[in-house]
Amino acid sequence: MPDVETDLRQDEAGIRASILDAVGNTPLLRLPRGFDPEVRCEVLLKLEYVEPGGSVKDRIALHMVREARRKGLLAPGGRIVECSSGNTGAGLALVAAALGHPITVVIPDKMSTEKIATLEALGAEVVVTPANVPIEDPRHYTKVAERLAAECGGWWPNQYHNPDNAEAHYLSTGPEIWEQCGGRLDVFVAGAGTGGTLTGIGRFLKEKDPSVQVVGVDPPGSVLHDWYHRRELVEPHPYAVEGVGEEEIPAAWDPDVADDYLQVPDGESFRTARRLAAECGVFAGGSSGMNLAAALRVARGLPEDARVVTLLPDSGRAYLSKVYSEDWMRDQGYLPRVSAAAATVGDLLRRRERAQVQPDETLAWAVRQAGERGVRPLPVVDTAGALLGVLDEAAALDALADGRDLEALRVADFVAPAPPVLEPSRPWLRLREALAEHPAVLVALDDGYVPFDRRDLLRSLGRLDHQAR
Ligand SMILES: Cc1ncc(COP(=O)(O)O)c(C=O)c1O
Repeated sequence: MPDVETDLRQDEAGIRASILDAVGNTPLLRLPRGFDPEVRCEVLLKLEYVEPGGSVKDRIALHMVREARRKGLLAPGGRIVECSSGNTGAGLALVAAALGHPITVVIPDKMSTEKIATLEALGAEVVVTPANVPIEDPRHYTKVAERLAAECGGWWPNQYHNPDNAEAHYLSTGPEIWEQCGGRLDVFVAGAGTGGTLTGIGRFLKEKDPSVQVVGVDPPGSVLHDWYHRRELVEPHPYAVEGVGEEEIPAAWDPDVADDYLQVPDGESFRTARRLAAECGVFAGGSSGMNLAAALRVARGLPEDARVVTLLPDSGRAYLSKVYSEDWMRDQGYLPRVSAAAATVGDLLRRRERAQVQPDETLAWAVRQAGERGVRPLPVVDTAGALLGVLDEAAALDALADGRDLEALRVADFVAPAPPVLEPSRPWLRLREALAEHPAVLVALDDGYVPFDRRDLLRSLGRLDHQAR
């Protein structure tokens, strides 16, 4: 594999020699006026989610790796081992792939499955560690990365404490924002995980114009907000927004750069991101929603000619199973809960893939619906939609295990009795009673039957409000 860093050919204008040349130079977009009726001033969004690795972290990955190679900390072909909430890992994996370095990424298990899949797609070895362990615990992702790097003689970028992290933003993101604004902005708002973004951009903008206000944002549960305001290290507690907030003070975060620090709860962050996607077509992640929610709070108090800039660190695509799943938002209580006293079976139903099969369809098709798409038990209905039963999974497994041709077999010969069927208007407690005896039930909707199993019940009980009358 040629080393693109030494491939100095000047290609035709418009042709990039390497994916690394596509990092940076992201657009700055004006938030449509009227998004928040109380905001009169301009709000600008730095769209970092259009980076090739999908996040702002491509910038620091590239800069940290280049500096490590220059300083001799990372030899050609040497292994990179990093702890990451996902995005730095993806940025590093992309840079590693382009430059021919093997890479291990240690990621806490609260991160979305999409992020883990992305890392693996980029060729990284992924090590998943428990999210809810204290930072001193040897299972904490930072500790695991440090240990693995030492064991294999690899380079640990340690983004939380690496000065090249903030420097990447000081050298690229800050100057881009300044230029795109023609040197005119009043406030820069951003959250901090490692603090590199806030510190590097904030420092650059303030050097250019000391009157620029820098406002940090934190989720409740992180320690940075309280440290900023009171220099007090509070006990951290779990929060759901990914990539921002901390449980210790990272060296890459310089609180003195900020003029104020706000807190935005998870629900507000997620609902803001969802509105931005659905109403503006700007499809960004949960921390982008947090940044925008804070920027709007700041902007509400400013005159028409003011300009607030915030940054959208990553793409909404990484959160399809979370922030952008209505089921997940309801399960977690980020959308209005339903009173437990009044809730129905329908209130706990999920909007996941649905399917039903007819007796004359092939067993191969039914097995795809039940196995690949996870519709279990799979309802079998006649042409008029009447329920005949469910796919007999045990018999289907036998046919599969015996190597029979599933295309030649018909569903009609693989029908088992249906479990209890519930109407969606029934009280939700009926689900609980039925699932105590049966692993799954079917719910009869106007357009067919939907399976509901114990896992569905476990996940959806967060939708209930037990205090409401
Ligand atoms: C989604 C997301 N938003 C924001 C940040 C915060 O950036 P920084 O680490 O520069 O403070 C991160 C960092 O991992 C992130 O992954």
